[in-house]
Amino acid sequence: MPALEDLEQRLGGLDGRRILVRCDFNVPLRDGGDGRQEIADDLRIRAALPTLRWLTERGASVTACSHLGRPSGVPDERYSLAPAAERLAALAPGVALAENLRFSPGEMSNDPAFVEALVSGSLPVPFGGSPAGTDPAAFDGYVNDAFGASHRAHASIVGPPQRLPSAAGRLLQREADVLGGLRTDAKRPFVAVLGGAKVSDKLGVVEALIDVVDTLVIGGGMCFTFLAALGHPIGDSLCEPDFIETCERLLGSGASIVLPNDITALDAGGTVRQMGRSLPDGCRGLDIGPGSAAEFDDVIAGARTVFWNGPMGLFEDERFAAGTRAVAQSMADSRAFTVVGGGDSAAAVAQFGLAPYMDHISTGGGAGLELIEHGDLPGLAALRDSPQR
Ligand code: 3PG
Ligand code: MG
Repeated sequence: MPALEDLEQRLGGLDGRRILVRCDFNVPLRDGGDGRQEIADDLRIRAALPTLRWLTERGASVTACSHLGRPSGVPDERYSLAPAAERLAALAPGVALAENLRFSPGEMSNDPAFVEALVSGSLPVPFGGSPAGTDPAAFDGYVNDAFGASHRAHASIVGPPQRLPSAAGRLLQREADVLGGLRTDAKRPFVAVLGGAKVSDKLGVVEALIDVVDTLVIGGGMCFTFLAALGHPIGDSLCEPDFIETCERLLGSGASIVLPNDITALDAGGTVRQMGRSLPDGCRGLDIGPGSAAEFDDVIAGARTVFWNGPMGLFEDERFAAGTRAVAQSMADSRAFTVVGGGDSAAAVAQFGLAPYMDHISTGGGAGLELIEHGDLPGLAALRDSPQR
């Protein structure tokens, strides 16, 4: 992929040049109390700063753009990027920000007319941009730094590289190197730890990972469909019956798959109980148990590369946070190269104060999984194929 330096060279310098930067400012929001939304975790904004500052330091006039949430192609106050704009103004003064790209139907449908509006600078830029009434001016270059959205073949991701001199931002490049590198160059033993609610979301990556990892560790809500496939009663735990057969096949494939041996569960009376692998009716598994945490720690301690995506339990509830905390701690203690992907795992690591001990915390959830699964993403391919590079 073309780098920022290639873009600088291509444009004969960046001073005064108008650069459009696609970021992934799809940050988690929470109620700020006064009816305003506030940012729960600004990782995705901070992660874009090296690129934004590199451009502004060279005199470029930078306009960032992003989506937020999943509005339905029309303006919707609840999905305004205003909270991100406020944070961005504090962290990268002088960088303008357009409103949520998904307020236009052409973003997700990759409409050429919307790409044209984007690159010609005719979209309104309400945050920190030029005053109303200023004639729109076309952009001179495009940078994709939105790793987290690069698995989407949306207008702002795949369109501009066809039209403008283009480059990968620093964040995108690093994410592509680290996550893409896991597929091809991971030091062994390579252990992947997967959690999160649904097997169905992760089936593709499970299939891809069992071919490349030495051991696959499975916890979180998705482990119960695997335990059901082994014939265990799982009580009222999450289960996706349509995927039991697939889990059976994966477990029978000869791959090294480690499942929890014990479960922390909530029983029918609302009491938290430590259980084995079999749960009675009315009992709902909500975390891996302490024995499993210790076993997972052994596996992680023996690894030279660890990739973790998805919490081990309902960690937002302190009663069911121990498994997720234990995996985060095992990774922090490990001498392995450690990569954390997915918003929930990244938030958990931050909540436990362990972020500084990880080698790489990805800003991508689905994007990281799809890169491991397919080895490429539409956004990366678009930059490589850019005739304008
Ligand atoms: C993410 O949060 O995974 C990215 O920003 C992509 O969002 P999307 O799943 O709504 O396309
Ligand atoms: Mg380490």
